[in-house]
Amino acid sequence: CWLSPEQTAGKQKPYMYTQGQAVLNRSFFPCFDTPSAKFTYSATVKVPEGFTAVMSATSWEKQKDNTFVFKMSQPIPSYLIALVVGDIVSAEVGPRSRVWAEPCLIEAAKKEYDGVIEEFLAVGEKLFGPYVWGRYDILFMPPSFPFGGMENPCLTFVTPCLLAGDRSLVDVIIHEISHSWFGNLVTNATWGEFWLNEGFTMYAQRRISTEVYGLPYTCLEAATGRALLRQHMDATGEDHPLNKLRVVIEPGLWGVNPDDTYNETPYEKGYCFVSYLAHLVGNQSKFDGFLQAYVNRFKFQSITADDTLQFFLEYFPELKEKGVDSIPGFEFDRWLNTPGWPPYLPDLSPGQQLMRPAEELAELWAADGLNMEAIEAVDISGWRTYQLVYFLDQVLQKSPLPEGNVKRLSKMYPKISKAQNAELRLRWCQIVLKNNLEAEYSKVKDFLHSQGKQKYTLPLYRAMWGGSEATRALAMETFSATAPQLHVNVQNYVKKILGLGGAE
Ligand code: BES
Ligand code: ZN
Repeated sequence: CWLSPEQTAGKQKPYMYTQGQAVLNRSFFPCFDTPSAKFTYSATVKVPEGFTAVMSATSWEKQKDNTFVFKMSQPIPSYLIALVVGDIVSAEVGPRSRVWAEPCLIEAAKKEYDGVIEEFLAVGEKLFGPYVWGRYDILFMPPSFPFGGMENPCLTFVTPCLLAGDRSLVDVIIHEISHSWFGNLVTNATWGEFWLNEGFTMYAQRRISTEVYGLPYTCLEAATGRALLRQHMDATGEDHPLNKLRVVIEPGLWGVNPDDTYNETPYEKGYCFVSYLAHLVGNQSKFDGFLQAYVNRFKFQSITADDTLQFFLEYFPELKEKGVDSIPGFEFDRWLNTPGWPPYLPDLSPGQQLMRPAEELAELWAADGLNMEAIEAVDISGWRTYQLVYFLDQVLQKSPLPEGNVKRLSKMYPKISKAQNAELRLRWCQIVLKNNLEAEYSKVKDFLHSQGKQKYTLPLYRAMWGGSEATRALAMETFSATAPQLHVNVQNYVKKILGLGGAE
């Protein structure tokens, strides 16, 4: 991706980045562009004066003539090779971690994560075994970066939306760190089993989160994930071929483009399946032991779900004996090959103490004739970001609310309706659109101008296109102004939503 100066945060110099996953690195260098092949690499990159090059590599060295030499000494699949060239600087945030960003963002970047990364790495090592990649650095990308994070080894790329000022979006960092074991060490052999990367990573992320932040908070975060899965399945239909853990990657009617597997199913249904395996074992530390043995058994390899499940049954022979792979309704084969809602959901009730107040408040706001006394009695000033997110998801689910309620809600909670936090802004924009709150349409426009993350951009265009004539016009106007700054994949998905003949 070649960005003009206007497309960067500093607006002074151009910027270049690569994004390999899923099958884009074939346009970067000649390769066997499949996750089933792993190799080491080295690279020599000469850049103009005033620019720095960084890569997903074990070591790098600056030589004369602004030439950078990189070496990745562990075997990795093609999609994990990544390069950035830009006006970027770094700051230390831990014994093996620094943050990289454009100069105008570096202070915020350092402040956001100073002193917190090492604990996540240490907990990850305790749970899953040695961290083999040497450094763990984080690069804050320009606003149009289409993902929350990308687990390029040694150097995670993240959206600048994470700079919330209060570390509230750190789950994305924990997620990318978790890929250091699940995805980057043990890799899905085909994109048809992308859930092996993402489902295990979601599970690992929530294990680390539980150790660091406790079970109630982690269950609350997982509940917002479950809400996203519900929204995704409602939007696509449960029976959609994408809503299987194992999808068929093939051109044509039944086939799926690997880029399209980037949806909630491999993440959240995958998380449910891994949680189900843990439930079968019935003991957290035994299951943690299995995860560590699994990583050790398959590290630096690319595997299929059959390898995973066979290893699981061998590791727990008493479960194999009991035939847990074929319990009616919960057959492993059904988990993998049947689309639809997960047959097992992990118990998130330890999060009730955080979720219940948010549910009750949403109910109050959904009522005809607001009970302002009851509403005013609820003090949300101490709520965590994910509690507010959960509250807003409930409000969205109940929307459209009775006439006038959302306008009042907006007035009552400027902390929400004027939020700078991207997760809150997304939900608020969705609520504004679903309730036709025209007075605040400009917030949707501003949010879409400020960043280009796929998981924020597509739901908003879907909502605008599914709404009134006014929101459709807003969609067209916003897209024509922002299209040049969006990643080409995101551009194509939006075109498809707007009926402009984009990607299949
Ligand atoms: N590897 C993914 C991002 C990705 C997936 C890029 C598919 C290209 C194709 C990354 O680890 C990821 O899952 N990011 C999430 C973070 C979230 C689940 C915490 C994201 O970007 O939303
Ligand atoms: Zn991931």
